[in-house]
This record gives sequence, C-alpha cells and structure tokens, in this order.
Amino acid sequence: MSDKPVHLEDRTSEGARLFSPTAARNCGPIADIIAPQIKPGQCVLEIASGTGQQAMAIIDKALDIYWQPSDPDAASRASVKTYIEAAPLRLLDPLNIDVTQPNWWAALPRTYDHMFCANMIHIAPAAALHGLAKGAGELLPPGGNIWLYGPFLFGDDSAQSNLTFNDRLKQRDPAWGVRELDFVKPIFANAGLDCDRVTAMPANNHIICLKKP
Ligand SMILES: C[S@@+](CC[C@H](N)C(=O)[O-])C[C@H]1O[C@@H](n2cnc3c(N)ncnc32)[C@H](O)[C@@H]1O
Repeated sequence: MSDKPVHLEDRTSEGARLFSPTAARNCGPIADIIAPQIKPGQCVLEIASGTGQQAMAIIDKALDIYWQPSDPDAASRASVKTYIEAAPLRLLDPLNIDVTQPNWWAALPRTYDHMFCANMIHIAPAAALHGLAKGAGELLPPGGNIWLYGPFLFGDDSAQSNLTFNDRLKQRDPAWGVRELDFVKPIFANAGLDCDRVTAMPANNHIICLKKP
C-alpha cells in the first residue's frame, strides 16, 4: 500500500472503532439489496471493508451467513475487529488483502460463495480493479456474485456530482477516478464474470452485480 489516504471524509473513532458518516448513510440501503441475495450458510469475502459498518449492517439482516472482511489498512482491520463480539463465529477475523498483489487470492483460508466491495475502485489505481476482477474470476464458484457498490460514470448520462467527485479524485491522484461502467464491465468479462444487474442507489451510487455463469 502507498502512504495515500484510504478515504476522503471526516471519520471519528471510539477506541479502535472507526465511524464513517458516509457508511452510516449507505449501509442500510446496501444491506436491503445484498442480504436477501445470500443463502443461509453462504460466506461472502469482502474486499476493502473500511470501518466494518457495511459488513455489520448486512450480517444483521442475514443472520445465517458468514462474512469474511478484509482490508490492507491496519486501522481498518482493527475497526472491523471491534464488531466480532457482536456477531461471533459469523464475522470472521479480517484478512490483510491488497488486490494489487499478484495472486492475492491464492493463499486464502477457505472458499467463498460471493464477494462484495464498496467504494474502493475509484480511490485506487486501475490495477486494483484489474486485480479485483481477476481474483473474483479465480475465487467465485459458478453462480457466485461479486457486488460492487459506489459511484460510477455512465457516459453522457453521468451524474454531475460524480463528475465533480471524479475531478476531485484526479487532483489527489491522476490514477484514481470514478470509473465508467463500460470500462469496468469488460474487465470483469475478461475474468469470466457477466454484468447481471445494475441497481440505482441513493446519492447517485449504484450496486453492480457481476455473476460467474
Ligand atoms: C473509501 S474506503 C471504503 C471503505 C468501505 N468499503 C466503505 O465503503 O466505507 C476505501 C478502502 O479501500 C481500501 N483499499 C485501497 N486500496 C486497496 C487495495 N489495493 N486492495 C484492497 N483494498 C484497498 C482502503 O484501505 C480503504 O479501506
């Protein structure tokens, strides 16, 4: 990981637990969409868990699933760990996964039915998107989904707020940027995943469901 910030918002903390105001707003709507799609007993690998708020919201709504959080940022992993007591055995110990590392998927402790990644691909170089897609192609079983949540561009139909956010990101780092959905889809297609569903979410965000046939 570089020494660049891992988020661009004012977070607060209580002990190791970090609080993201954005995640507080989006975790409920995300859980409403994702939780019903996970079958009892299934395990989801989350990439870039951040504070852990979204993981907790989803497993609070799907009481019979397992959740494997991960983040390359140690403070984020420490924050996620503060939730383990609230969901013992179902919320697994967070892993240190950086999807730009070669073959990052090769040494994981178990298999996963689905994957989830929120707000990472715009605040990381495109190599992270490529690594995420490659890993999803390697890890997911037939019928497995990876859900991407966050802002996306839709060509001429892009939301102005996302175009403005894109400019702000690029000022920070020219390798960052809100991704065009038409840029993202072929990268996953090359890894063997089809775009199954695009769901509009509050504040011009979307959930993109990519499925292994
Ligand atoms: C804006 S935060 C989003 C956190 C959380 N998913 C959310 O939506 O609140 C971006 C996260 O991506 C993680 N990240 C950045 N580069 C990464 C990489 N190469 N592999 C995995 N995670 C990465 C950061 O550590 C950070 O936790």
